Amino acid sequence: MGENSTLSRTAHGKDRETDQPGRTVDIWHVDLSRICGKVLSHPYLNQSDRLATAGRADRAATRVALRMLLGHITHLPASELRFCAGPFGKPALQHSDLVFSVSRRESTALIAVSQGAEIGLDFEIRRPVPELFGIARMFHPAERQLLSHVPASERLDWFYRIWTRKEAVLKAIGTGLSVPLDSFCVVGAETGKEPVRMRNPRSPEFYLQELVLENGQFACLASPDPDITPRMHRFWFPEQAG
Ligand SMILES: CC(C)(COP(=O)(O)OP(=O)(O)OC[C@H]1O[C@@H](n2cnc3c(N)ncnc32)[C@H](O)[C@@H]1OP(=O)(O)O)[C@@H](O)C(=O)NCCC(=O)NCCS
Repeated sequence: MGENSTLSRTAHGKDRETDQPGRTVDIWHVDLSRICGKVLSHPYLNQSDRLATAGRADRAATRVALRMLLGHITHLPASELRFCAGPFGKPALQHSDLVFSVSRRESTALIAVSQGAEIGLDFEIRRPVPELFGIARMFHPAERQLLSHVPASERLDWFYRIWTRKEAVLKAIGTGLSVPLDSFCVVGAETGKEPVRMRNPRSPEFYLQELVLENGQFACLASPDPDITPRMHRFWFPEQAG
């Protein structure tokens, strides 16, 4: 993962470049393990408490990281930021043209922040998907065809590529699953190529950027802006910074 050495050591991104408006989308990689691990390893918790708490702790820690980042960028106290939600739950910062998208899997979160056109980010960690073809029945015919024809050894990776691309688009629009998954095709919409066209003619086209992460991790960023450049940073909670 490309990292800016200054930002990779800061909790809130002290780099002046971060404040620049434009087509750069800053994406923070947030390691939730050490921050949540402190709570989860507490001897008072038994195993079922631990499991029940893990998801909530990761979610809460991600929201804290989001507030810290947005507070830094807007020069407002993080606690004073006010959020609102679209009709399908897409969160937004009130009275601001900053846009963001959050995705969390296991103990890692990615947070994308930009200005202007909406963005959608999805992140997944590769795990076996026994129902792969069953799930793919909901996909666009060209996506199903690709999954049927790729070598078996590459099928799971392609499934995750398609999945993260589709979900990034749905998160950019903010509709979730109210848009049918077979109503748009993400095959052939690789970085720098064709846009994704939605069935709804009033919807914008979306351009995709696949992010380069560790092996087995997949992430995609979607935006109606064809010229966005993702820039990766590492986020540290103050407790984690050495
Ligand atoms: C939220 C949603 C958009 C994605 O959920 P998810 O993949 O389980 O979770 P992620 O970690 O990637 O994203 C969660 C974050 O997205 C944001 N979010 C919530 N609703 C959203 C919406 N309608 N649009 C965009 N972002 C949304 C929130 O920041 C949320 O964080 P929170 O849990 O702290 O509130 C989900 O409601 C959804 O509809 N997903 C589509 C599921 C699907 O079947 N996809 C198939 C793709 S092939």
